[in-house]
Formats: sequence, structure tokens, C-alpha cells
Amino acid sequence: MTTPSIVGHAPALRSCWHPVAESREIVRGVPAAVDLLGEAVVLWRDGAGAAHAFLDLCIHRGTAISLGTVEGDEIVCPYHGWRYRSDGACTRIPQLADPTRVPAKARATAFHCTERYGFVWVALEEPRWPLPDVPELEDGAWATVLCGPYTWACDASRQVENFTDFGHFPFVHPGLLGDPDRPVVPSHTVETDDHVLRYDIVRPEAVANDDFPVFGNEVVEAPERRSRYELHLPYTIVLRLGWGGQAGMVYFFACRPQGPERTMGFLVIGRNYNLEQPDSVLQEFEDVIFEQDRRFVESQRPERVPFDLADELHLTFDAVAVAYRRAMRATGLAL
Ligand code: FES
Ligand SMILES: [Fe+2]
Repeated sequence: MTTPSIVGHAPALRSCWHPVAESREIVRGVPAAVDLLGEAVVLWRDGAGAAHAFLDLCIHRGTAISLGTVEGDEIVCPYHGWRYRSDGACTRIPQLADPTRVPAKARATAFHCTERYGFVWVALEEPRWPLPDVPELEDGAWATVLCGPYTWACDASRQVENFTDFGHFPFVHPGLLGDPDRPVVPSHTVETDDHVLRYDIVRPEAVANDDFPVFGNEVVEAPERRSRYELHLPYTIVLRLGWGGQAGMVYFFACRPQGPERTMGFLVIGRNYNLEQPDSVLQEFEDVIFEQDRRFVESQRPERVPFDLADELHLTFDAVAVAYRRAMRATGLAL
């Protein structure tokens, strides 16, 4: 299918923050190549440890700068040794009689780059909106666990929409996230505030699971989960879970849109209970859940969410999908 409605609006997506790597993966002295919205990007850390993101292409002969090295506060192209500092300016061209007489055009393309919640974020153009605030993830009283990342052969919009889809829980995750005997999606209302969608839902929880004791529900008979969602366009979800007591959990899920048929979902989970539980318990649980989803989402056609509401069939319990499609178009993030 190639109707215009399925085409994401890449120019607008360039003006958004996207997670591109886990911070712990980017080590000092070693440039790392990542792709974002079809662009090749190199990540590197300067001498103080600050992360930087450049177009992974040396203006001299188009070599991948990520093949080079980092020396002090500069990244060095491996082909002819040109050196670039963190703002992108070239500081030295060794082939010149005076290597410091660098023409102004000799620059690397520097992108916006920041770190938060354990991830490196890049915006290819001036970002329109700040990153969402999730105080729990920066509160020492909460434990955080990095899960994934989850690389799927689909567009980021499909991966995000799957995360927000209530109807599939009892079918795809029976006994883990949903109860097959209670498939009805409770009614919920989506409030759209510019680029943020908010909605709450109280829905049937799977009964407590001995294999994966990850949730904070104390009731074991027909338990319910309170979920408060914030969907920050285009591809970031903040989900706060509660079971009526003090126990709280927050899911922070954000996708890196690599290209139209490839996304990498980053996930960090915070909780204020089970603080001593090994990270592997949640990680293995999420690996199972995401793998259960992956097969179905990768089979969806078109690979990108069709943002025209005339495409696909929406019923009342698909309110989030409808609001997401509307908001993506209203903000110009999808055509
Ligand atoms: S291609 Fe990078 S220095 Fe020549
Ligand atoms: Fe799922």
C-alpha cells in the first residue's frame, strides 16, 4: 500500500527527540554508529563524558566518522585524520602546510544530543517539545530496570500502538497481562493536549503469576490494575500502574524510528516495591511479553500505522488508536 496517508512526515519527525542508544553502551573513546530516520549518526563522548551526535559522514570524502577515534574533546576521521570538536567545527587538517588553516566549510553536522532516563536522545533539528518529565525515574527511592531494547521489523508507530492496545492482552498474553475470561475492554476517554494523549483505565489483571512475580497486586481473585497513560507524540509512552495500595510502577517506553521498516523500542521500568528483586526477573518477563507481540506486529500491513481514519476498522474500544492517528496528523507528524 502506498497511499499518502501511510507516509510518516519525516521532516516533522526530525524536530523531535528520539532515543538512539542506552547511555551505558556509549563508552568514552569509542564512537558508535546508530541510524535514526534513515540518517547515519555517530555518537561519541568528549573528555568530560558528555555525549555528542554527528551525521556519520566526513565532509572531506564521505567516510563514516564512526570508524575513527576519539582523542580528548575531538573525534578524528580515520581516513585522513581530520579532527572535529563537539560543535562540529574541524580544528585540524593534517595535509595542509598549516594544519590549522581550516576552511569554514570543513564541519561535521552536529545534531541535538542529550541524556536522560538511561538513554541517549537525539533530535536531528531543533526539538519542538522537551522530553517528558518522569520524576519517579530520577528518585532514589525507586528502583529502575532497563529492559530490551526490542528491535522489530516494523515502523515505530506500530510498535507504539501495540503498547497502547488493550484488546490484545487476553489473547496474546493470557495469564501474564490479561485474563481470557475477561476480554471486554473497559471504557476509557482519551484527552488530547497538543502532542500529549492522556487516559486512565482500570482493567482486569491476570491473576498473580508465580513464574513472573513482577506486579504489585495483592488481590489474587480477579485482580484489577489501574493504569494511567501519557502518550507523548510521536513515540514515547509513560505508563503508571497501581493496584490500589502503595505499590507503584512506571513504564517508560520510547522507540527509535530507524527507518520505515525498523524500530528499536527502549524500555526502563521503575518501581517502589520489590526493591531487592534481581533485574533479571523483570527483564525476562518483558522479553517474553515483547516476543509474544513481535510476531503479530511484524505481520501488520502496511508496516506503518495508516494515519487516515478511513483505513482499518476502529471500534469504540480503539479510542487510543483513533486519538493517536488524529493527533499525529494534527501536529504534522504524519500526513
Ligand atoms: S574522509 Fe574524513 S578526513 Fe578525509
Ligand atoms: Fe502486547
